[in-house]
Order: sequence, then C-alpha cells, then structure tokens
Amino acid sequence: MTDELRRQALDALTRARSRTAALTSCVDEPELIAQHSPLMSPLVWDLAHIGNQEEQWLLRTVGGREPLRPEIDSIYDAFEHPRAKRPTLPLLPPAEARVYASDVRGRVLDILERTPLEGGPLVDAGFAFGMIAQHEQQHDETMLITHQLRKGPAALAAPEPPVHDRGPLPREVLVPGGAFTMGTSTEPWALDNERPAHRRIVPAFHIDTVPVTCGEYQAFIEDGGYRERLWWADEGWNQIRQHDIGAPLFWRRQGGVWLRRRFGVVEEVPPEEPVLHVSWYEADAYARWAGRRLPTEAEWEKAARHDPRTGTDHRYPWGDEDPTPSHANLGQRHLRPAAAGSYPHGASPLGVRQLIGDVWEWTSSDFLPYPGFAAFPYREYSEVFFGSEHKVLRGGSFAVDTVACRGTFRNWDLPVRRQIFAGFRTARDAEGNAGPEVHGSSDSHRGSDGSMA
Ligand code: AVJ
Ligand code: FE
Repeated sequence: MTDELRRQALDALTRARSRTAALTSCVDEPELIAQHSPLMSPLVWDLAHIGNQEEQWLLRTVGGREPLRPEIDSIYDAFEHPRAKRPTLPLLPPAEARVYASDVRGRVLDILERTPLEGGPLVDAGFAFGMIAQHEQQHDETMLITHQLRKGPAALAAPEPPVHDRGPLPREVLVPGGAFTMGTSTEPWALDNERPAHRRIVPAFHIDTVPVTCGEYQAFIEDGGYRERLWWADEGWNQIRQHDIGAPLFWRRQGGVWLRRRFGVVEEVPPEEPVLHVSWYEADAYARWAGRRLPTEAEWEKAARHDPRTGTDHRYPWGDEDPTPSHANLGQRHLRPAAAGSYPHGASPLGVRQLIGDVWEWTSSDFLPYPGFAAFPYREYSEVFFGSEHKVLRGGSFAVDTVACRGTFRNWDLPVRRQIFAGFRTARDAEGNAGPEVHGSSDSHRGSDGSMA
C-alpha cells in the first residue's frame, strides 16, 4: 500500500517535471525572461517558484532539512509581488533556476523514499507530495497560458484530438431533484477547498449535454449579443464597453470569417469546438441570450458525480477509475479541446459529455468554503480567495493533468478573466421547481473576508 502510494507520488512528480521542462525548453533564454503579458509571470519565475514551493513544503517541512536557498523565498512569494511586477525582481537566470529546481527535486526523491506515509495529515497517503505535484501541474497550465499569449511563431506542437462518433445527442438532460454528496473527505490528495463531504439538496434542473460551441457562440455575436444591454450583468457591460470587446479573446474577423490565434497559429474558428477564452460575464450574457443560465457549482458537481439510478456519488462522470485517454482530453496531450460530443466513454450516467477535460467550465457560483472547511496546510491556497470576487470553474481543460482533476476539484478566477482555458455549458430550472434562488441560497454560507492577493 505504502509502496504503491510512493510510486504514485513519484510518478506524479516526475510527470509534472517533464512537462515543466518541455514548457521551458522550447523557447530561448530572452523569451523565458520576457514578460509576454502583464497578466502573467515571466516563465522563469514560474520555474523557480515551482522549485521554491517544493523546497518549502517537501524539503523543509516534510523532510525537516536545512533550507537550500532561503534568501530567494520572498522573490517567489506570489503574495508579495503581483504578476505585473515580477519581471523587475532579481530573478534567478534560466540556467540557475533549472539547477535550483532539480537540486530540490533530487533531495525530495530521497525524502520520499524515507518518509513514512502516515502519522499526520501532511504525510498521510502522501498528501504533501500529491499537493506539490498538483501545484507544479497548475503552474504548467499557467505557463501554457503564457505560451498562448506569447506573440511569434509556434513553439509547441501536439497531435490533433481524436475524432469520435458523437451519435445523435439530446441538447440537454434532466437531472432529477434530491440530495447528493458534494465534496470529499476520502479522496487522499483532494485540496482543502474540496473538503469536507457534505449533503446538498439540489432541485431538478436541465443541463447541456455538451459545452457551448464556437459555432453557437458566433450566433450570439451575429445576433448583436455584445450590443444588447439586456443580456449583460452591470460589470460585464462595463468591461466590454471599456475594452471594446466583441468576441472571445484571440478571435478576429477578417474577410467575412472568424479567425483565431492558437499557440502561434492563425486558423479559422472551428464551429464544433467548445468555445474558449470567454470571461464569466460573456458566458453569463450568452446564457441569458439563450434563455438559460449558468449552472451552479452544486448542479455541475451533481451532474458530474451523482448516479441517480444507484444513488451513489463517484470520483468522475464515468465512475471511480482514474482518467485514461479514452475518457477525457487532459494533460496537454492535445493543444485544443476536442469537438463537442466527443469522449462517449467519459459520459456521465445520464449521458452528459466532456464534464472533465477540454475546457474549464464557468459556474454561476462564488468561491466559498464548504460547511466545516478548515484551511490546510496554508491559508493562502484557498481561504484568502473565498468571497464574492471569484467565480468557480469546474471540470478542467485540455491543459490539466489527471493529478489536478476530479469531480470534486474546484478552480476559481476573477469574472473578467479571458486568457484562461475556460468555456461553459448552460442550464435551466426544471418545470415546477423553485428556481435558481433556491440554489443561490444553498450556496450562500459565507466564509471569510474575500480579500484578493
Ligand atoms: C487554483 C489555479 C487559481 O494559479 O492562482 C498556484 C493555483 N495556487 N499556486 C492559481 C495555485 C498557488 C491557483 N488556482
Ligand atoms: Fe504557486
């Protein structure tokens, strides 16, 4: 059992490191140091920050070793320096950052072999090692976003996603009302914000079988969606007016066709692909235009984990087994989402597809703690972000590794963000239930301050 956990931790850490290496070796040194967007860190900051988090948690805290480079802690503290300012810091040059991260890793592999994976919440079932593997993978997705924002010719390549026979699919499915278990107390590497498991009553609702596609989103644009005040939340309307937004980020209209730039390649917008790079406000406006709404976070999780035939809740839509390439588009195997309706093996018991992988999905919910939440192992992972400023995203994109992806996993961001790999699906109340207010109030247990780093 312990050997198996050790092997899993080693595997997750190693997979993360080869992805980090790939993302930071495909561009030259000036490009690693450059800031490609004020929204993002220089790639070389992410690289050393990955090593520094690993040093702090695995080498110092779990391993009890002497600090390797305590003098750089503050440079790589995400709360001390906002992303826009990071290029001005005395960052380790690329070669030194690589050596640092790999020195830390060498010692950590030794610690992994010696540490009993029981005896406290940090080491039980290898939690800290899983947490650090997830942290590195999250920064790998962040670095992939930097690659998407970067100008210039393509630096990355990957095979096209598989083409599946989507068959005739209903537009939406009815999820029956009733209780389900939200969150987890048993998933060993689940992060603090996914805990604890608790019962939630979710009235019946309909949810889209597949994410909203680029083609459907184009119909919203062509219908004047960006010019109709009625569809927009106040802040969303301000954002699109102020920044003159009329289409998803990276889209451009030319000669009567919509083009998009994707990792350095300009191509026609594929109508069957789930739409990406829309803010929460754009998703919310689209849903209103379509006569629908975004699902709440609880609705999303119930659709993804609950099997109404058996009354049980699973780790993934397809059941409890770990994701394989036939279940979902994950892990940067491809550099884009698969066509809507793909991955029939990953469907939920009710037939909802692509809940996991392809695109992060905006939900209507604010990022709030579950009842009984306890910050672990540090307040700055989740707790300081709780409040009405951040909206919850669920499911994971093509850029998410399997270690950082499960039916209970919660991501969050500001509702104005468009550079992340986010799309959405829509929902509506089932006839005869009390409507979204009910979900709203069940979501409304308030946590802490809602401050933002
Ligand atoms: C969970 C993706 C919002 O990138 O800000 C990385 C993950 N936390 N380092 C982020 C994270 C600390 C976090 N998100
Ligand atoms: Fe981080």
